[in-house]
Order: sequence, then C-alpha cells, then structure tokens
Amino acid sequence: MMEKCSNNKSFIVFPLLFCFLLFPHLLLSLENDYIRGPVRELVTTTNHRSDSDPQQVHISLVGKDKIRVSWITEDKHTKSLVEYGTKSGKYSSKATGTHTMYQYFFYTSGRIHNTVIGPLEPSTTYFYRCGGSGPEFSFNTPPSKFPIEFAIVGDLGQTEWTQSTLKHVDSTNYDVLLLPGDLSYADSQQPLWDSFGRLVEPYANKRPWMVTQGNHEIEIFPIIYPHGFKAYNNRWPMPFEESGSTSNLYYSFDVVGSHIIMLGSYTDFDDKSEQYKWLQNDLDSVDRNRTPWVIALLHAPWYNTNEAHQGEGESMRQAMEKLLYNAHVDLVFAGHVHAYERFTRIYDNEANSCGPLYVTIGDGGNREGLALNFKNPRSPLSLYREPSFGHGRLQILNETHAHWSWHRNNDTNSFEADGVWIESLINSKACTKTQEKQTSHEEL
Ligand SMILES: [Fe+2]
Repeated sequence: MMEKCSNNKSFIVFPLLFCFLLFPHLLLSLENDYIRGPVRELVTTTNHRSDSDPQQVHISLVGKDKIRVSWITEDKHTKSLVEYGTKSGKYSSKATGTHTMYQYFFYTSGRIHNTVIGPLEPSTTYFYRCGGSGPEFSFNTPPSKFPIEFAIVGDLGQTEWTQSTLKHVDSTNYDVLLLPGDLSYADSQQPLWDSFGRLVEPYANKRPWMVTQGNHEIEIFPIIYPHGFKAYNNRWPMPFEESGSTSNLYYSFDVVGSHIIMLGSYTDFDDKSEQYKWLQNDLDSVDRNRTPWVIALLHAPWYNTNEAHQGEGESMRQAMEKLLYNAHVDLVFAGHVHAYERFTRIYDNEANSCGPLYVTIGDGGNREGLALNFKNPRSPLSLYREPSFGHGRLQILNETHAHWSWHRNNDTNSFEADGVWIESLINSKACTKTQEKQTSHEEL
C-alpha cells in the first residue's frame, strides 16, 4: 500500500493528499526521502519438538572462555546436560548444569536449564547437544584479539518486523549480539516468552546474546509479584556474579579488548544504591591496557530528541553520567524509543569531545510500532535521527579505532544508512589529562 502511494505518478495531487491523510507519517518520511513501513503482525511460534527435546536454546558469555547454554524442556525430568566438541556428532566434552522453573499466576514454565561449558578455544566452531537428545546446534566463539564485531538491537519484540531485523542481523557475520532491553513484549502473558524464545533460537543458539532489561521485562503485579522480572531473570540469566554484581539486572563482562557494562534502568541507581556502588567499583577496576574500549548499555535513553519517552532516563543520567564521563566511557547505547538516533559526544547536555557518544537503537521491531515524531528544531547534539526499523553494527578494529553503522530493514544489509568512525577516548591524551585535572581539583 505504501509503495503504491509513493510510486503512482499518474495522479499527483489527490492520491498524494489521500495517502497523507491515511498515513501522516509519510510526510515525515519525505524529510529523509525514504518510505517507512507500517506496524506488522505479531508472530507466534509453537513447539514442534518432543517434550524432552530442547527448545528456546540460547547462549551467553561467561567469564573469559566459557559459554552458558540455556534451554527449556516441557519434560520435567530431562537432565541439564550439554555434550559438546569441535566435530559434528562427536562430543568430546560434557557438562551438567542446573535447572529451575517458575510460576506466574496459572502459568507454570517448562524446566529451564542452564549449563556452563568450557574452557573453550577462541574463534572456534563448537557443536553441541542439550539433554542427551534432540537436534545438534553449533556456535562460534569470539576471537581472542581485535577485530571484533557486535550486532546491537533493542526493543526486539516478536513481529514480522522482528523477523526482518533478525534476518538482516544474521545476513553478515558478527561475534556477539548486545540487546539494551525489551525482549519479548510478553507483558505478563507468559506463553509469549516461550514463543519469543523459539523465534530467536535459530540466531541466539549460534552467537552469544548479552542482554539487559527494559520496562517490558518488569512484569510486577502488586502484592503477588512485587519485585518483578520473574520471567526475565529465570529465562535470561547473565553473568552478573562474575562481575561482582548481586543482581541479574546489571553486570559487566570483557570480550576482546572491550569492557561492556549492562546497566539497569528499572532498578535503583541513585548514589546510595547497590547498582551505583557496583558501577563505581566496576569502572575503577577496568584495566584500559587490557580493555581499551568501555561501552555501556541501558534501556531508557539519557539523551533523546524524540517526542516519545521524553525525560524518562533523566534521573538515571543525573545520578550516573559523571561516573561514566570520569571513567572515559566511549559509547552508550540505549533502547526504549522506537527509532534510531545518533548523537555527538556529550557530557551534561553539552557537546564534549571527552564524553561518550550516545546512540538510541530501540528500533528492533516491536508490536508498538515506530516513534515517528522528533522534536524540532533539531538539537545540535543530535547528528542523525530516523524512525525506521533496523539494527546496528559496532566493528572494533583495534585499540584506537571502531566503526559504527546503522542498517535499515528495508535496505539491503550491505547498505549503511548511517555510519561513523570512532576513536577510543583512552587514547586521547587531551581527554585523560583534562579529566584528571578536573577530578583532582574537585577532590581539593
Ligand atoms: Fe521500553
């Protein structure tokens, strides 16, 4: 329908007027000479395997050289066993993990298995099988040195747009996927968590997926489930203990010269909070010789020129921005706003060449559609903004240089709708000296 409207040249005025009346966001799209698609249908999946076979298989990084394999079985007696090796069908190693299940009102989950395997060799393909039966899967471990490539996608959901995003993500190689919150959009309908797990399995079982929480993971119900995150914490355990965190809602990990910090927008973050103290310690312990790049992800953006979700990340920004700035954090990725936006380097609402570069990448494909309206006039801090579904790529080439690109679903994957070269802050003597001076001055 959209293409018909834009391509019909035989009638100019009335058909266009009619199109704009029906689809006012077409007017916005003209700004960028690009037509965006409408909201697409929810995609639900069903289990076609036996009750004892694994479903919803996904993997995540644990420590320097281990992988956690997570999966669910309908059968409540299946063992949390993973057999693995570097040759298909020949499993030279095995490990047994733990299992759990949870209840949410009348819903009872399947048996949720988590098994950590390793140590594993870098840049190696491993074949594995879960629970002693069912299909064989395989994954590639990240390399041991630069370059490394991250795929970054937020607010994924489970619609036809999600499928499109996942296909684009999968069409070129990457090492690790980072997701800054809002996974399934189950919103307390627990079977949708299962459906989401099956939808992403073909992608998440072959590359590590590292996630943090969004507002759609909260699922608090007063009195009965006052703490929330029941499904999220049970289904998507991340390596928080390894980074000294006491909560699955915030943690950090190292991979190939990069220290990745996953923050929690929906847990306490003020300067008395556990998360704040953990972040302080975490940033203090970063060894920039080992991990010259430091990257943070969180859900509600601290900088945002879209009319949607204005100010929702502001109290967290006020609490934590200084910590990130003083620690020379290179990049901050957020989701929540269903559009793409790239800012310049910022500190405290001003352009600052020593602050992090901010990106909003909440355009993964959720059922709520796009956040079409940006505020005008455009802030000079915002360098590129567009409400289209897509995903991002961060290629870190070496200690000093990385390339960020954003890819729209409607383009071929090789087309880079937006891109920028980034230099690591730790290599900027001007920044490290200025901030050291500032810090010692403040201490006095
Ligand atoms: Fe959100």
